[in-house]
Amino acid sequence: MKIGVVGVGYVGLVTGACLADLGNDIICVDIDKKKINNLKKGMLPIFEPGLEELLKRNKKRIKFTSILREGIQKSDIIFIAVGTPPKENGEADLTFVKNVAKGIGKYINGYKIIIDKSTVPVGMGDIIASIINSNMKKKYQFDVVSCPEFLREGSAIHDFMNPDRIVIGISKKEVGNKVAEIFKPLNTKIIITDIRSAEMIKYASNSFLATKISFINEIANICERVGANVKVVAEVAGLDKRIGGLFLEAGAGFGGSCFPKDVSALINIAKHEDYEPLILKAVMETNKLQRKNIFNKIKQILGTIEGRQIGVLGIAFKPNTDDIRDAVSIDIINLLLQKGCNVKAFDPAAMENAKKVLKGVHFCKDIYSVAEDSECLVILTEWNEFKEADLNKIKKLMKNPAIVDGRNIYDPKFVKKLGFKYIGIGRN
Ligand code: UDX
Repeated sequence: MKIGVVGVGYVGLVTGACLADLGNDIICVDIDKKKINNLKKGMLPIFEPGLEELLKRNKKRIKFTSILREGIQKSDIIFIAVGTPPKENGEADLTFVKNVAKGIGKYINGYKIIIDKSTVPVGMGDIIASIINSNMKKKYQFDVVSCPEFLREGSAIHDFMNPDRIVIGISKKEVGNKVAEIFKPLNTKIIITDIRSAEMIKYASNSFLATKISFINEIANICERVGANVKVVAEVAGLDKRIGGLFLEAGAGFGGSCFPKDVSALINIAKHEDYEPLILKAVMETNKLQRKNIFNKIKQILGTIEGRQIGVLGIAFKPNTDDIRDAVSIDIINLLLQKGCNVKAFDPAAMENAKKVLKGVHFCKDIYSVAEDSECLVILTEWNEFKEADLNKIKKLMKNPAIVDGRNIYDPKFVKKLGFKYIGIGRN
């Protein structure tokens, strides 16, 4: 099939590369000429395991352009995969999606299926259709479909190729079946439903996962107070199939480009309809509180905080990515700086991005230079190399051997036995 993908962010680039791998001819479009020129040279705008190889392998089937007209006119199916960043009030900013819809209206040259992969408020499918209609000079037939994306950064290709389900939102059965053809090679459950339900499935799914995280963080906070171990509690509660063990890792809370944005957007959608979403609001509040809790743990371990040397391990919002969007590290580091701490930090992938955002931090080349002379080591991302670090060496290098383990990567007993002061999450 001839497929256009508009937007080469995480979703667009992974979708384009994977669809090419499934045998389709892909044109990836982005208004950012620099990004496109780099991609033509094989330079990727993001760090995603396996993506570079996938693009190389499918070089012949994937083209990059900054000319929207080309992407639209040479494709039968067009994926919209542009960003919907949050506005100040938490609402999704739909400018990019609307601009793409305008462009489709302007350049459409025959029947097209337009598939929205950007996360948009419920009802946006109809708005996309009306924008296309009002920008068409000559009338052509088209259909707008919602096909929400569930991939996770760091395992995006695996997630694309092995989805739990594919959701296709369109009321015309024949169009739904045509879109389903694209995903048939993935051999998974394909659900064809109405467009509004499809749009809502994305918000409901991400909000539920975020709810699981805030829930287990709340349980962790209670565990700490009553002397229980949240790891055991989560693992055993998760054995109940109705609960499920995934996304029950207590820690410093969730960040990234999806959960905070999507939960906030759903809160706004509900409020817009005069409904007060109490659970969703609590999910966000608890997540914010968890970042403060990490700061309080550092205070608890050090007593006074001003002028102390803190070493932060992990800046990316999760391992295997260089993404620092809404990462817990940013809030925590800024709070530490505000309170007069000296902060050193290291992340295996996110240093370049971090340097652009975090001012006043001393960025180090590895774990051990962060540890040197630090009075408290704070773990904020569970990278494997942190788990495997030489704790004896770290202890010798630190001025005061203390760890606040915001991702529960170390065994408390073992670390304490080595002579560290140690505070984790939800277990003593
Ligand atoms: C998420 C969804 O998983 C994915 O389906 C959707 O398409 C996009 O949003 P992503 O943001 O890439 O993916 O990361 P994810 O692995 O879901 O983690 C999100 C955040 O939750 C991270 O900050 C992570 O550290 C945190 N998290 C995750 C926890 O704190 N505990 C957990 O048990 C799981």
